[in-house]
Amino acid sequence: MIYEPPAIYGIIGNPVAHSLSPVMQNAAFEALEVNAVYKLFPLADQEELKLFMEDLKEDNNPIFGLNVTVPYKEAILPFLDTIDPLAEKIGAVNTLVIDHKRKIHGFNTDGPGFLSHLTELNFDLKGKRIALLGAGGTTRAIISVLCLLPQGPERITLYNRTRGKAEILVNEIGKKINTGIVSIVDEIEDLNIELADLLINTTSVGMKDSDPLLIDPESLHKDLLVYDVIYSPKETKLLAQARLKKAQTANGLGMLFYQGVLAFWHWSDVELDEGIKKIMRKSLEKSNHGS
Ligand code: ATR
Repeated sequence: MIYEPPAIYGIIGNPVAHSLSPVMQNAAFEALEVNAVYKLFPLADQEELKLFMEDLKEDNNPIFGLNVTVPYKEAILPFLDTIDPLAEKIGAVNTLVIDHKRKIHGFNTDGPGFLSHLTELNFDLKGKRIALLGAGGTTRAIISVLCLLPQGPERITLYNRTRGKAEILVNEIGKKINTGIVSIVDEIEDLNIELADLLINTTSVGMKDSDPLLIDPESLHKDLLVYDVIYSPKETKLLAQARLKKAQTANGLGMLFYQGVLAFWHWSDVELDEGIKKIMRKSLEKSNHGS
């Protein structure tokens, strides 16, 4: 019998060691009995990224799909042969498909993954008021898909510690997407969480025990969905406070799950059935050791 090496998939970024993507994707490969393996590819800097991407074009390279994480979601753009229209609008790519001619195609599944999780939570975005904390890569994907919705939110109010970064982000997105519903505020109190339907935290504040609570807990209320993209710990201080105020809460594990399901779909053209998705979700939850 001729030995057929497995197809290789993986994640590039820095750092990638703590990524939960291998657990989820390998669980799917195993359940589907596909001869493929998902690996970690730490790339220290832009030079390593360049060499890796050059190598990816080689005929005998066994890599057929990748996730891209921090800090390369934008730096990857010059290496693509094609970019999906949504990823082009967002200005960031987190999923690569490498076809049999070794052409590299870029997609963004972070934004759609977030929307899929909101659907699972039965949260209808139409006409809603959203308060958003942070202006990093996650906010870029979230704002873009929210502003593109035909029946989307009424208003997105954005606060970031460094206001200039929020301005640059919204200006950049605004070149390709109508960001008329987005306004940036100077003070966190001006987010008007009391009047919001959805509060999203995309900052890294809450990952450490010693992290402060950025918002006034008194502004949280029972008609609010509080969405923290952090999933380790499973319940941040923000989510704990929200729970006390009887708000609906969600951590970012669902967004991670759905971006991975969508990435798998790009790689395989296979719509995963509910049984396989359950296996992927369980493997994620089991491996998420955040307290
Ligand atoms: P990601 O790509 O995951 O969104 P990022 O690009 O590193 O992550 O963005 C991190 C976000 O967390 C930023 O909005 C950052 O605010 P600044 O733009 O002011 O740096 C925010 N952040 C990180 N530490 C913070 C802190 N101690 N207080 C408030 N915001 C913080």
